[in-house]
Amino acid sequence: MKKSCVSEKRRGPITLGCVYLKHLVKGKTTHGIHSPFLFNFLKDCVYAKVSFKEFEDIEKQRYRLKKDNRVIEVCDFGSYKSESESFVERKQKISSIAKTSLKSPRQAMLLYKIAGYFKCHNILELGTSLGITSAYMSKACPGSVLNTIEGCPQVAKTAQGVFDALAIDNIRLHIGDIDKLLVPVLKETGAPDMIFIDANHTKQATLYYFDVLLNHIYKNTVIVIDDIHWSKGMEDAWNKICEHPDVSVTVDLFYMGIIFFREGLSKEDFLIKC
Ligand SMILES: C[S@@+](CC[C@H](N)C(=O)[O-])C[C@H]1O[C@@H](n2cnc3c(N)ncnc32)[C@H](O)[C@@H]1O
Repeated sequence: MKKSCVSEKRRGPITLGCVYLKHLVKGKTTHGIHSPFLFNFLKDCVYAKVSFKEFEDIEKQRYRLKKDNRVIEVCDFGSYKSESESFVERKQKISSIAKTSLKSPRQAMLLYKIAGYFKCHNILELGTSLGITSAYMSKACPGSVLNTIEGCPQVAKTAQGVFDALAIDNIRLHIGDIDKLLVPVLKETGAPDMIFIDANHTKQATLYYFDVLLNHIYKNTVIVIDDIHWSKGMEDAWNKICEHPDVSVTVDLFYMGIIFFREGLSKEDFLIKC
């Protein structure tokens, strides 16, 4: 099966706004959460305060990238150039990638908190882009290693520049199509403690990543999927994943979804305001 071949229409701001409003109305906070696992996770991780000071050096890099008007070649995965190449190249300013493609400081900080809370030493990110979120996650646990995969060579080169500027030595950047690299990287790293999926935002690619990952995780692996309401297709993929028998608990934070496979938890899907 070709995994990244379906382009999906992103929801417009009005539709997305309505979905978000629904989330706000239906979503819970720690009140009314009876699962001790989830209650503690929300209190001590999701809603825990962390000083932004810790990330000043990374944010200086984001600021620098937002001012960088050099044009680089980016690849649109999901748009097919030929049978053998699963992307189409186009030019884009680094500043525009930095403004539109990266997780916000608040969301990157949440990923940092999740990695720290569960003491994740082996982290995998699908979709590095300029490496800002990778840098956040790489700081969460001393002694951790973060493997991250990016398909556009020039984007990856810029990310490596960020890691070098921050003197980060625990990130291994793999350059190439995730569809081809995912299994070899997983064989090399072993079962990750945490996986952040933020690459090709389509139903088909998301379900493909999930299916492959299922064979390489263990019961304490946490998977985080970005932009689960970005399109109808992403939402369908999220709903399908929630129903999977191996999944115990899911947490829908609107802008991302968290999946647990832990034993001893009753199967439940939570909508959480964050
Ligand atoms: C939304 S950006 C990632 C943002 C990054 N995680 C962050 O928060 O800073 C998605 C990235 O995934 C890459 N990507 C998408 N599909 C891919 C594929 N099939 N193989 C490799 N990289 C892919 C894109 O080139 C893009 O740089």
